[in-house]
Amino acid sequence: MRETKIMPSLFGADISKLKEEVSPLENLNIDILHVDMMDGTFVPNIAFGPTQVADLKKVLPFQFDVHMMVENPEKFIPVLIEAGVEYISIHQEATIHLLRGIQLIKQLGAKAGVVLNPGTPVESIKMVLDEIDYVLLMTVNPGLGGQKLYVPIYKKIQDMKQLIGDRNIDIQVDGGVNAENIADCYQAGANWFVVGSFMFSGNTKENLTALEEALNKGELE
Ligand code: DX5
Ligand code: ZN
Repeated sequence: MRETKIMPSLFGADISKLKEEVSPLENLNIDILHVDMMDGTFVPNIAFGPTQVADLKKVLPFQFDVHMMVENPEKFIPVLIEAGVEYISIHQEATIHLLRGIQLIKQLGAKAGVVLNPGTPVESIKMVLDEIDYVLLMTVNPGLGGQKLYVPIYKKIQDMKQLIGDRNIDIQVDGGVNAENIADCYQAGANWFVVGSFMFSGNTKENLTALEEALNKGELE
C-alpha cells in the first residue's frame, strides 16, 4: 500500500482566526496543506484567489496542494507555481485541454493531479493516467465544506485503483472525510485524505489523533 497522508483543508478553518487555526498543525505530523480555489462559475462558491494563495504560501510552513475548482485552470497555473505551490490538481470537467493543463503543471515543476466530480466516471481519465502524479476523487459535490460523504464513492475508489494498476499514482479523497469513514476510504484504495470541517471543529490535535488512530486500525485489518 502506498504511503498515507492526511491533509487539512484550509477552507474548513475559520479564516477570521487563521493563525490560531493553523498554528496547531505546525507541531503535528502534517506536511501538506490542501488549499481550495473556487471561481463562482465551476462551483457555486468563491475562495482563495491566486494572490491570497501566494500570500499564504509566504507565511505558512507547509507544502501546498491547490485544488483548482476553476474553469480554464491553465491561466492560473504559472502564477501558482511561481508562488511556490508544490501540488496542483485540475478538474477533468473544467477544461477541454486536460492534457495541456497537466503538462503545463509538470513542465513548470509541480506535481500534477486530476480531479473527478462524484458523477464523472473513472474511465474519463484513462488517456492521461501515464502523465499524472495523483487523482483526487471528490467524495461530495465540490464547492462547500461540511457535507456528508457520498457512500457509493467507495466502489468508484476501488475502480480507480484497479484502473491505475501498478502506476505510481496516489488516490486522494476530499469531502466529508472524518474518523468514522477514513478507514473505509483507505480500504477502498485511497491513501491521501483531505479533511476540512472535521479537522477544524474543536481540538485540532485530538481530531488528527482520532483520524490517525482510525487509519492505523484500518491498515491493520
Ligand atoms: C469542498 C472542498 C474541500 C472542503 C472539504 O469542495 O474541496 O476541500 O474543504 O471540507 P469537508 O472536509 O468539510 O467536507
Ligand atoms: Zn478541496
